[in-house]
Amino acid sequence: MSTATIEDRLSSTARSFLTGPKGLLIDGEFRPAADGGLLAVVDPSTGERVTEVAFAGTADVDQAVASARAAFADGRWSALAPIEQSRRLERLAVLVEEHGAELAELETLDVGKPLAQSQWEMGLVADLLRYYAGWCTKIHGDVNPAGTDFLSYTLREPVGVCAGIIPWNFPLVMAAFKVGPALACGNTLILKPAEQTPLTALRFGELCLEAGIPAGVVNVLTGDGETTGNALVEHPGVDKIAFTGSTEVGRKIMVKAAGTLKKVSLELGGKSPSIIFADADLEAAATAAMQGIWTNAGQWCVAGSRLVVEQSIHDTFVDVLVQHSSQLKVGGGFDADSQMGPLISDEQLSRVSSYMEIGREEGAELALGGSRMQRPGYFVEPTVFTGVRNDMRIAQEEIFGPVAAVIPFGGDEEALRIGNGTDYGLAAAVWTRDVSRAHRAARALQAGQIWVNSYGDFDWSTPFGGYKQSGYGRELGKYSLDLYTQMKSVLVRL
Ligand code: NAI
Ligand code: MG
Repeated sequence: MSTATIEDRLSSTARSFLTGPKGLLIDGEFRPAADGGLLAVVDPSTGERVTEVAFAGTADVDQAVASARAAFADGRWSALAPIEQSRRLERLAVLVEEHGAELAELETLDVGKPLAQSQWEMGLVADLLRYYAGWCTKIHGDVNPAGTDFLSYTLREPVGVCAGIIPWNFPLVMAAFKVGPALACGNTLILKPAEQTPLTALRFGELCLEAGIPAGVVNVLTGDGETTGNALVEHPGVDKIAFTGSTEVGRKIMVKAAGTLKKVSLELGGKSPSIIFADADLEAAATAAMQGIWTNAGQWCVAGSRLVVEQSIHDTFVDVLVQHSSQLKVGGGFDADSQMGPLISDEQLSRVSSYMEIGREEGAELALGGSRMQRPGYFVEPTVFTGVRNDMRIAQEEIFGPVAAVIPFGGDEEALRIGNGTDYGLAAAVWTRDVSRAHRAARALQAGQIWVNSYGDFDWSTPFGGYKQSGYGRELGKYSLDLYTQMKSVLVRL
């Protein structure tokens, strides 16, 4: 695809960002990588290279950490009046809204997701920042009842220099998950977007400066995991790592962070079940199941990849699911009618294709899809496997693509056993009209997020994070504040 065609799809503001230099944001300035390294940006809808950004090496990581440390030490952010921090975060939210159209275009170019989805996500980013702008003025310690001989109080202080290492599936939303609470708590931050999706983080860095977030408080390092991410994890000048991504890398980060005893929070993978009982509203359950697995082409941590369906309604449910899913419009992010975009990369395409093959070899039946699409870009068909046993690899391993595994069950006990039968524990859904059964299941399911008669809903006030190997720490709400503050006790003898 020629550059002209890509440019045709973009507004003039997005185009001018794309054609300009895109350096690393260190200490309030955009600069090239010290060694001149570059990272290619590929449009997953075409497989074509669209531009390049700087690739941060260890020297750049050192500089960004020095900048974030200096910014933290002199209090240019943490010592601002909370109401002023709040005002600036709110201004950042407004700037994201004002530039929402342009940011959405960059996101769609990077991820391939439908433009309408990216536009919606930019609203989420603004609201999440606005939500945390409200917290700046509400973070406080306590006075403790230590008896009449003492005054005992606590101070909630920022952790210091944080690094946010984030994935490519919801790039700017994930950035806001880290930046919002980190800044509300008075920290400084180095944001490391995924190598596949660096664009919106860089534009966001510009908006941070425009909003009056002082230089050095938010630094943006585009680069990969092995070099850039790893250097942040090992760096003695980084106090905390906030990571969202694969369980495999989460495990590595824990090991590496042990060297300097960094604080670590991890939001990792999942293999989340939707349990659909015979008394459920089948149409609603099927529609939500589709959203659960086709959203972002199945590339989201809470993907509803296991559909655990009561035997007596199994065939009807599969019919409805397959019939609706076969109408799904798969296309490039800028195609007006696209409902599901491509996978992010060639690597992800191979991975998802290999699981389609594994499912066949394991003896599951293909009720829909099962192949790569014959067109440029990294497109695969929406795929439904039936006759899946929970011990098959397609039921146990995170595929991160639009591949649903339908697993039948007989009674409640079996449903819950299957639901809990993986190493993951990120999310689970229950579909039933029986209130008692719904709450019993909510208690029994080992997952950080339970949905009853819905799928994939989030709220900024509601904690989010994993049980088991889906990670630890809770993001969102007041719970993020625990990740980005440390508590100091002051005991005064009276
Ligand atoms: P990944 O976990 O390797 O990448 C996520 C982030 O971590 C990126 O910013 C990457 O640069 C960074 N990273 C990678 N290795 C690192 C290291 N050694 N030290 C520090 N940072 C590091 O995910 P990847 O390779 O893009 O995808 C592989 C699989 O991971 C997917 O197929 C999916 O199953 C899972 N995944 C899950 C996500 C989730 O939200 N649960 C998000 C992204 C991937
Ligand atoms: Mg990786």
